[in-house]
Amino acid sequence: MPRILVFKHKKPLEIELADGSRIVVCGCGLSETFPFCSGKHILIQDEDDDKVYVYDERAERIGEVEHIVVKNRGKIGVKNIRRLEYVAAKE
Ligand code: FES
Repeated sequence: MPRILVFKHKKPLEIELADGSRIVVCGCGLSETFPFCSGKHILIQDEDDDKVYVYDERAERIGEVEHIVVKNRGKIGVKNIRRLEYVAAKE
């Protein structure tokens, strides 16, 4: 089942653990080793903060969201999304 996830960070989050060690957690959502950063965030540095992008399961950008069509007016929620339309990325 497809899922819509929204990640707003463009870089990893560094977290210090109780024992003083550090881990680097993915903030972009594209990591191959999620929840840890794999460096894939380098692919999103050109993203415009005002747009929502669509990626496939291989972390390849396939487009930008153009419209989200919901079933009922006034409420945008996961159960309410009927269709997501996006503009395909240019090759
Ligand atoms: S922050 Fe997601 S791969 Fe690095």
